[in-house]
Amino acid sequence: MRGGSSRPERHGTPDGQSPRVVAIDGPAGAGKSTLARSIAEHLGLERLDTGAMYRAVAYSALVKGIDLDDGPAVAEVARGIELHVGERVTVDGKDATDVIRTPEVDAAVSVVAANPEVRAEMVSRQRAWIAGRGGGVVEGRDIGTVVLPDAALKVYLTASPDERAHRRALERKGYDLPAIAKALALRDQLDSTRASSPLPSPDDVADDAVVIDSTGRDADEVLEEVLEWL
Ligand code: CDP
Repeated sequence: MRGGSSRPERHGTPDGQSPRVVAIDGPAGAGKSTLARSIAEHLGLERLDTGAMYRAVAYSALVKGIDLDDGPAVAEVARGIELHVGERVTVDGKDATDVIRTPEVDAAVSVVAANPEVRAEMVSRQRAWIAGRGGGVVEGRDIGTVVLPDAALKVYLTASPDERAHRRALERKGYDLPAIAKALALRDQLDSTRASSPLPSPDDVADDAVVIDSTGRDADEVLEEVLEWL
């Protein structure tokens, strides 16, 4: 783990230039999307939300009535899905921005994301996305460790379970806090214990990642800290 005391090494970025590839990992509700959006804007790069990709596969499998425990069938969905992930998300040509963020998809996505064939397909699309642009800000669970291990800047963003649940409850108006907290805890557990590219704990992240705990801090403060590392 890299603390806040020294300047991060850059990988493949000439001195004096802004990094072209930024990886942001961390558990659900840590504020990754907000941070990724601000960094992307600051550096003039595009942002890729890889969680939306796994959500889209889970959504599509649910709509098709596929048993999520049928690994090969779910992998088939992943390989065949036509996916566009930007500020809006389209799945097979239809807008799916909101439908991939329902409690049903929340409950299904970690099982789908634990499928190694699904991951292989998504990781290959994520690397192609970066290669096609020469850079970008990519957020997820395994970006700095597996997808883009040479990223110039790797951030591991976390916050206390309580705060993450509160933030998610604010985003998802109408859902009660205890249910959200329970769903987040279950997803954290599944994501960090799966065999294939698990989410590391903050004490166990890549040596070259900056760990930022955003508990009690607003988005601007977190952005300011990250900008110091650029
Ligand atoms: O937005 P939130 O923090 O709730 O999660 P997300 O980033 O949308 O990711 C949804 C789910 O996709 C996670 O709980 C993981 O199961 C999976 N995921 C993953 O396995 N690997 C990634 N790179 C991104 C997401």
